[in-house]
Amino acid sequence: MSIVFDRAVEYYDQTRAMPEERHRAFVDALVRETGISENSRVLEIGIGTGRIGMSVAEHVRRLFGIDLSLEMMGVLRRKLTDTNLNISIAQADAGKLPFADETFDVAYAVHVYHLVAGWQNAMRDARRIIKRGGYFVVSFHKREEDSPTARIRKELHAFANARGIETKRPGTHSEEEILGEIKTWGDEPRVVVCTAWTEPEVPEKILEELDRQIFSETWTIPRAVMDEAMPRVRAWASETYEDLSRPLDAAYETRWLITKKL
Ligand SMILES: C[S@@+](CC[C@H](N)C(=O)[O-])C[C@H]1O[C@@H](n2cnc3c(N)ncnc32)[C@H](O)[C@@H]1O
Repeated sequence: MSIVFDRAVEYYDQTRAMPEERHRAFVDALVRETGISENSRVLEIGIGTGRIGMSVAEHVRRLFGIDLSLEMMGVLRRKLTDTNLNISIAQADAGKLPFADETFDVAYAVHVYHLVAGWQNAMRDARRIIKRGGYFVVSFHKREEDSPTARIRKELHAFANARGIETKRPGTHSEEEILGEIKTWGDEPRVVVCTAWTEPEVPEKILEELDRQIFSETWTIPRAVMDEAMPRVRAWASETYEDLSRPLDAAYETRWLITKKL
């Protein structure tokens, strides 16, 4: 089982965009650390709407991308018509990549393996299609554990879990888990911190976004349960933060976990 993003297609780009400077630092670190150049063969696993892929494609003659969601890639296809970028996309499962062994110099994934059941096998399949000396790269977005976003989401999850609803996504849940899996391959992963920043978070906005169910961690919660849960989560947040419109700083980092295939 995987979480397909068809339902997010209308709002994905608006709600997941990074500020330009952070976006550039993220893509530049990938290009620099893996030595991507014009003729590199590069694959993005779970390319979605090309939020990251379109910037990587500026560095190569041709980028390859796969995703389960035709809807997400439809957005990418439309965006590509206004550019001279060359991205070949195909519908495929990260667990069964439709490529021969040792095809790519670099295969990377951004926010994907937490959605994929059997993520260990899927990551091994990514390693299979990378050339020796090539790179397997996974992004990790680190959020402070007691940030308002983390705490408010946790309250909602606890409510849903008490109703017997699973809110854990089917794939990997931590950076440590990913690094541990890679080490079993005999490869040595490195962590590159691309950007670290603090962000003002407004509890009111977090509650509103949760209620709209725009993040995949709320997609298993039926609307009726959300309608029951949200007033309680709001009451908890009011008690905890007093003024729901007051921004509170939370620390974030974007990281690349980079593994050279030995
Ligand atoms: C959070 S989005 C990230 C999209 C893109 N990488 C980005 O950073 O904007 C996750 C993407 O992974 C795709 N996905 C989920 N499970 C997948 C699987 N098993 N194989 C391929 N793609 C998958 C979803 O359809 C979605 O487009």
